[in-house]
Amino acid sequence: MNTVRYGIIGVGNMGRGHAISLLGEIKDAELTAVCDINPERLEWANEHLPADVKRYSCPEDLFAAKTVDAVLIATPHYDHPTLAIQALNAGYHVMIEKPAGVYTKAVQEMNDVAAAHPELKFGIMFNQRTNPLYQKLRNLIQSGELGEIRRTNWIITDWYRTQDYYNSGGWRATWGGEGGGVLLNQDPHQLDLWQWMTGMMPKRVRAFCYFGKYRNIEVEDDVTAYVEYENGATGLFTTTTGEAPGTNRFEINGDNGKIVVENGTLTFWRLRVPESKFNAEFSGGFGTPECWKCEIPVEPGGGDQHKGILRNFTQAILHNEQLLAPGEEGIRGLMLSNAMHLSAWTDNWVELPIDAGLFLEKLTDKIKTSTFQKEQAADRALDVSGTH
Ligand SMILES: NC(=O)c1ccc[n+]([C@@H]2O[C@H](COP(=O)([O-])OP(=O)(O)OC[C@H]3O[C@@H](n4cnc5c(N)ncnc54)[C@H](O)[C@@H]3O)[C@@H](O)[C@H]2O)c1
Repeated sequence: MNTVRYGIIGVGNMGRGHAISLLGEIKDAELTAVCDINPERLEWANEHLPADVKRYSCPEDLFAAKTVDAVLIATPHYDHPTLAIQALNAGYHVMIEKPAGVYTKAVQEMNDVAAAHPELKFGIMFNQRTNPLYQKLRNLIQSGELGEIRRTNWIITDWYRTQDYYNSGGWRATWGGEGGGVLLNQDPHQLDLWQWMTGMMPKRVRAFCYFGKYRNIEVEDDVTAYVEYENGATGLFTTTTGEAPGTNRFEINGDNGKIVVENGTLTFWRLRVPESKFNAEFSGGFGTPECWKCEIPVEPGGGDQHKGILRNFTQAILHNEQLLAPGEEGIRGLMLSNAMHLSAWTDNWVELPIDAGLFLEKLTDKIKTSTFQKEQAADRALDVSGTH
């Protein structure tokens, strides 16, 4: 095989972007099919895609047709595991959009099926992993430059969304259609990066979620979570889609100083001697370790994002290139978001790994109260260029 033939399932906001990228911007990749259950979305395909790109009105037809080598699943989140399992079992390489799913029980089943098909590549669209800022920070942490981690703190409040955005899709911000709010839609990127950069998952979580605080929605739009790690470190994750102007600041403190990622820069306040050593040796009463402020050079531009993930996935299929975002890793960020919901719903601490059955039970209760009704869901495609 010299070229990977892709089929996209779901040609809404994101699927359309991927379709355009696959029309020549991704080396060794081509778009050969699209699939959407909404006829209006297929109409878009008729107007904007070459005539030889096949159209299917249901995933089963696409799976049966054997016109693709890989499928890219860009439907609402609940369907990611279901469709991925069907696609893997039908013999296709699979790339899913984020989040991996809505609840870890389904995502674990998907991961088990992927593990049973080692001959197929399985990836997830964690495009923020292509950002050189986060890659460099991961390298500084995991090479030991920062020393043992003590505290992590991410304030991510600048992915602002209006009521009109929520109104644009009947599935959005409902328990039945989406399964969550800012934690499920905007934050899967940060929740993934948080564990990917640090290499650590918390051992327990206590979270406070406000539901429909700023917008007329069922789900959370304001969250503050406190986490504890195995090594004694602690962390804070603060997020909302309802504040303007917002902040995107990740600060991490270790034995050798602190690193801050904000406004596209990576700053390392580097201690001349580790804090633990300074404390053990210092005898002058008040004192603090000498600290140097270092601006860490990072390639500008934010990385190749979605196209970078597609290029890497294509080369993984063709030449066994290592995946930057393996699909199996999607469960980690989702575990964090599920833990935050569960903590808020039970008003208590939640240990990780979470009780997946209990989470699903609580989510099912929420779904029963949900206003989401599939047949009435009004959908309007938005231009996502320049979004995340
Ligand atoms: N990686 C990113 O940066 C990024 C950005 C935006 C959205 N996303 C993700 O992409 C996914 C889709 O989001 P969106 O904003 O494009 O939503 P959307 O509503 O605009 O598009 C979803 C499309 O899927 C179709 N669909 C639904 N169920 C289907 C099924 N079973 N088979 C075939 N088609 C089906 C719908 O008709 C619709 O056209 C979400 O999971 C979202 O989190 C990722």
